[in-house]
Amino acid sequence: MNAKEKLDLTKLPKHVAVIMDGNGRWAKRRGLPRSAGHSAGAKTLQDTTEYLNKMGVRYLTVYAFSTENWKRPKAEIDALMGLLLEYLKDSERRLSAKNIVIKIIGDKTKLSQEIQKQIIKTEAMTQNNSGLTLLIALNYGSRDEILQGVRKIAQDVKSGKLAVEDIDEQCISDVLYTKGVPDPELIIRPSGEYRLSNYLLWQAAYSEFWFDNICWPDFSRKYLLQAIEDYQKRNRRFGGV
Ligand code: IPE
Ligand code: IPE
Ligand code: MG
Repeated sequence: MNAKEKLDLTKLPKHVAVIMDGNGRWAKRRGLPRSAGHSAGAKTLQDTTEYLNKMGVRYLTVYAFSTENWKRPKAEIDALMGLLLEYLKDSERRLSAKNIVIKIIGDKTKLSQEIQKQIIKTEAMTQNNSGLTLLIALNYGSRDEILQGVRKIAQDVKSGKLAVEDIDEQCISDVLYTKGVPDPELIIRPSGEYRLSNYLLWQAAYSEFWFDNICWPDFSRKYLLQAIEDYQKRNRRFGGV
């Protein structure tokens, strides 16, 4: 029996989130520049998106660039931004044909004008598709996301639009970039790191985690199936019995 046959298609997560980590180490082990690891990682993203879409998963959120990744050398940041731009351009052609919706989450104001324009184009091109929604976290930081949200709520209270007593969990979810998207049931982090690195802190309150030493460029369908299969065996209690 192959791995896919072990999956229970009636118990699929609606939303899978991935921290695409380990591109640099993957490249280093092969004597390649880090940028080669990022290119290989972009291919894995393409395949993962297509596979989850085919499976029937509704949302995939991927961590592509964090608010802390600006600490990296300029050459690496430039390579990553170039790759992201190409990915978005290419997606217009490839992913819309596969019925995928693309959205970028994160603080877009710090991205180049060229990337910002491409984001608007790609999002508009794919917005009427009905398949999986791919949320790409770009210049995303969960603390920054919550901070912007708190400011917005404070502003609404100040202007009299919202009463303090009416602030509830839904209000907070609604000021985050993921507004309207169900919380991820499953968060996958390859590369052997066991941390969230400022990713989806509010949304991950009851997520199931899946870790493995494999680096992101090597994260093939086999691992994806394993992660979902393991998720399906978990007993999610949400504080109950
Ligand atoms: C993830 O791979 C991609 C980004 C953070 C943009 P890394 O570049 O972090 O790879 P490692 O962790 O150094 O191997
Ligand atoms: C998390 O990976 C961010 C992305 C994958 C985009 P990092 O490589 O930046 O995380 P740390 O520094 O190891 O925590
Ligand atoms: Mg890393």
